[in-house]
Amino acid sequence: MEVVETVQEMQQICEAIRLAGETIALVPTMGFLHQGHLELMRVGRRHADKLIISIFVNPSQFGPGEDLDQYPRDREGDLEKARKVGVDLVFMPSAPEMYQEGYQTRVQLEKLPRHLCGLSRPGHFDGVATVVAKLFNITRPHIAVFGQKDYQQLTVISRMVMDLNMDIRIIGVPTIREPDGLAMSSRNSYLNPGERKSALSLKKSMDLALELFREGERRPGVIIDAVRSLISGHPFTEIDYVALCDPVTLDSVEVLGERNLLAMAVRVGKTRLIDNCLLQNGSDRDDHI
Ligand code: PAF
Repeated sequence: MEVVETVQEMQQICEAIRLAGETIALVPTMGFLHQGHLELMRVGRRHADKLIISIFVNPSQFGPGEDLDQYPRDREGDLEKARKVGVDLVFMPSAPEMYQEGYQTRVQLEKLPRHLCGLSRPGHFDGVATVVAKLFNITRPHIAVFGQKDYQQLTVISRMVMDLNMDIRIIGVPTIREPDGLAMSSRNSYLNPGERKSALSLKKSMDLALELFREGERRPGVIIDAVRSLISGHPFTEIDYVALCDPVTLDSVEVLGERNLLAMAVRVGKTRLIDNCLLQNGSDRDDHI
């Protein structure tokens, strides 16, 4: 497994891979790898000849006062995990390497960032779209793999790829959970034991919503109220949003249809957690796209 730190070297290597007639899968990450990331890598491994991951804590997707400086990092642990799942190349640039002096370009989507997390994290999805577009230009992958836990991010990236005619297949992988249901996230490491217990309220509230939907409830307000009140009954929780929306446009819905996205962001202590599931006919699973 090779570790590459410069854009130029990465571009040269990827060009050689393509010239040799081999395919490339890219898994972009911000490091502090957990089982959720490793699952993305396993999927990437199955779909291409060469598996590349990027590890880059992207400053342009963090707002003022967010956790850029505290974001957990574990270079050696990450490299060890990547090696074990069969990663061929790790791209690990510095921030000045990615955003050279004079840098001034951003990729901005018009509508999708105006929903859900975009409302409380202005500029976040522009930062994500920008860095992912850069990573695509640097590694020129045939496929790229993202987690469905970051549902809005996956929607934004899929839309960007379509809109900008990028010849890349985007694969969304269902959320990997801890045995007790908590969605895996690098930010779970911020939770103390009491908060960790309260964090389970997100999954419990989605199970409740699925049950209500299965019983025939189609009024978004009733389901949202039930979800909110279950979460609020747990200590340390502060709801940012709970929304029921169209899974493609992310517009909120007035009556639930065949496929609906239930998405939420909740602060547990100081940690902002997100989760989502699909409420759809004939399904009791939380996979989607
Ligand atoms: O999901 C993440 O870890 C990041 O948002 C991504 C896609 C690597 C872009 O920085």
